[in-house]
Amino acid sequence: MTIDNPKTPTVALGTWAWGDSGKAGDGYFGSALTRVGLEEVVERAHAAGFTLWDTAMVYGMGRSETVLGDVLKRYPRGDYQLSTKFTPQAAGSGADPVADMLEQSLARLGTGYVDLYWIHNPADVQRWTPHLIALLESGKVKHVGVSNHNLREIELANRILGEAGFRVEAVQNHYSLLYRSSENAGILDYCRDQGIPFFAYMVLEQGALTGKYSLENPLPEGSNRAQTYNGMLSRLKPLTDKLDAIGHKHGAQAADVAIAWAIAKGATPIVGVTQPRHIDGLTRAGTIMLSRDDMAELEALADGADVNTRGWWEKEM
Ligand SMILES: NC(=O)c1ccc[n+]([C@@H]2O[C@H](COP(=O)([O-])OP(=O)(O)OC[C@H]3O[C@@H](n4cnc5c(N)ncnc54)[C@H](OP(=O)(O)O)[C@@H]3O)[C@@H](O)[C@H]2O)c1
Repeated sequence: MTIDNPKTPTVALGTWAWGDSGKAGDGYFGSALTRVGLEEVVERAHAAGFTLWDTAMVYGMGRSETVLGDVLKRYPRGDYQLSTKFTPQAAGSGADPVADMLEQSLARLGTGYVDLYWIHNPADVQRWTPHLIALLESGKVKHVGVSNHNLREIELANRILGEAGFRVEAVQNHYSLLYRSSENAGILDYCRDQGIPFFAYMVLEQGALTGKYSLENPLPEGSNRAQTYNGMLSRLKPLTDKLDAIGHKHGAQAADVAIAWAIAKGATPIVGVTQPRHIDGLTRAGTIMLSRDDMAELEALADGADVNTRGWWEKEM
């Protein structure tokens, strides 16, 4: 069986924050996002040629998928790619919980297929991976990937899919200057060797690496990300100042440099975009060539911050 490789863009677009209720301070991100504002984000992304959108049923329990499907529907389906996920922890009790969750996602997204379908985390690789095979055969899923899996689990998933003539076509893990566990565990090398695109999520640490947030201007009060990051903002300042200074040399911003760092490491960042201007940042990030010295200095400052940003849903790699 031949498998056409998924086209890997320089950057993909994340929509976890789109699952928030939209009320300031409320939800995971606490950003005040409006439907009109998100339409503008999509328009800007479409015009700039960024077309791969990442979501999951659990982002606002359907809310992110619903709004994403809604704002994309004005474009021909072939103009964009959809990536969504099966989350084992939220599985139903039917005969095929993976197929059931996919059907619900398709309905919310208003489409007959998704370009990439992920097992969101490795609750039980033997149990859940085989469910992907029928979905690939049905054509409702074009490509499959695994997220938050360690190297052993990725290899196991690859073996299970391989027996049916398929393979793991993408890996998606938390990877940022502050959180390099996938690199240290050899997952980036494995992906490079196997020709598997490695998607890096939270390269901006949910805004903490953008330089926008500081002791004077903390992350939105009442949000989950504020609880995680507000207490470490002063430790991050030398790093965000350096990101900003490097950005200055390139006519860019701190966030663009953090994204460019991940691209330079061979990853495809999935960036959680909430404002049209964030799309301009992605365009800039794709053009920044960081020097070896800049890369080393950024990593040293990140290590010096000595913070652990592992998400509550993540395990050691
Ligand atoms: N597989 C998994 O388990 C998993 C887990 C987490 C995330 N993900 C995926 O990865 C995506 C990215 O992660 P994330 O959204 O959690 O965090 P992120 O990309 O690290 O940060 C997103 C936040 O950074 C700010 N931002 C984004 N672009 C910016 C720019 N160019 N300049 C300045 N600020 C910018 C926005 O904050 P403000 O709105 O405050 O400006 C935004 O909410 C998610 O949306 C999701 O699709 C997957």
